[in-house]
Amino acid sequence: MSEVWALLRRYAPLIDKHIEKHIPRSFNLDALERICGKPRYGYDLHALNEAVAKPLWDLLDRGGKRWRPSLFLTVYEALGGNPEDVLDYAVIPEVIHNGTLIVDDVEDDSEYRRGKPCIHRIYGVDIAINVGNLMYYLPLTILLRDERLSERKKNRIYEMYIEEMIRLSIGQAMDIAWHRGLSPHVTEEQYMQMCAYKTGTLARFSAKLAAILADVDEEKVESVGRFAEAIGVAFQIQDDILNLVGEPEKYGKEIGGDITEGKRTLMVIHTLEKASPEDKKRLIEILNMHTRDPKLIAEAISIIKKYGSIEYAKEVSKRIMKEAWNEIDGWLPPSKAKEALEALARFLIEREL
Ligand code: IPE
Ligand code: IPE
Ligand code: MG
Ligand code: MG
Repeated sequence: MSEVWALLRRYAPLIDKHIEKHIPRSFNLDALERICGKPRYGYDLHALNEAVAKPLWDLLDRGGKRWRPSLFLTVYEALGGNPEDVLDYAVIPEVIHNGTLIVDDVEDDSEYRRGKPCIHRIYGVDIAINVGNLMYYLPLTILLRDERLSERKKNRIYEMYIEEMIRLSIGQAMDIAWHRGLSPHVTEEQYMQMCAYKTGTLARFSAKLAAILADVDEEKVESVGRFAEAIGVAFQIQDDILNLVGEPEKYGKEIGGDITEGKRTLMVIHTLEKASPEDKKRLIEILNMHTRDPKLIAEAISIIKKYGSIEYAKEVSKRIMKEAWNEIDGWLPPSKAKEALEALARFLIEREL
């Protein structure tokens, strides 16, 4: 664990420095022209600083684990490259990820993100949705303006970006429909697919981006993609566990928020499979209330615990992680970066924050 913290701490400031290189803390004409080109009429810089730069940097400055760009850099190194050469591209998955967090917090009506009120609670839903959406596209200007990469590589990356971003919204759509109670019965298989899409895609994107840049053959690109998608799923399961039983200061989001949301997590699905008709009815009732009442949240958590669903979820995330590692262990040559990759994968399911 400690070696992974060291790796994340080593990479985070480098990643942040490169984010700042591409996305200004404060917009001026030069920066805007780099992003949008020369204006035909005129920009309102003040408005853009209020509605873009401030909320965007508010969230980025709160930190975050930066594990997606760290995964990207570590995969690149494990495939024989020098991570220092690709730091500019590490910005891409992290900025997109932060954009999805801003939009997701609106969708989930969440209160806290990284220990502070969510962006829409400070700046308003209108600003939050717009800046979140902008963050899906803004980091791609890094590729657009890049002169080092061949057109072929750039097109391969654009293609993959489109595929993964579509999957991300499809995953979110399933999750959202379920928390609204729109599906009467959600299966474990459907849950896994939802996670593979909503969380697995940015991990896949990060790992595949590294593999494309490292010029490995298509089979290996797909293999690191499958590995990363699986660690994304295991990571999401652990995140859902922490939402019920984690420590608020470390976790940085509201504990029990998933009960308020009405989220159909693996634990909920397992409980609904195993519970007595009364417990099942009561759990669904509380989830459909979207309540913030601590007593009702505690009652829902105690029903989930009664059926061993937290232990069950831990087992599943461990199993997925093992399968993920088997995907690449056979062909990835031994190296320090490979060891770091294994430790990073383990960290993502053993973490407390
Ligand atoms: C949160 O991701 C969103 C999920 C997929 C559960 P992270 O836990 O990686 O968020 P930060 O970047 O560290 O805050
Ligand atoms: C995170 O979804 C996935 C994306 C933002 C695409 P969740 O809603 O499960 O994550 P948290 O709990 O809000 O971080
Ligand atoms: Mg959420
Ligand atoms: Mg969500």
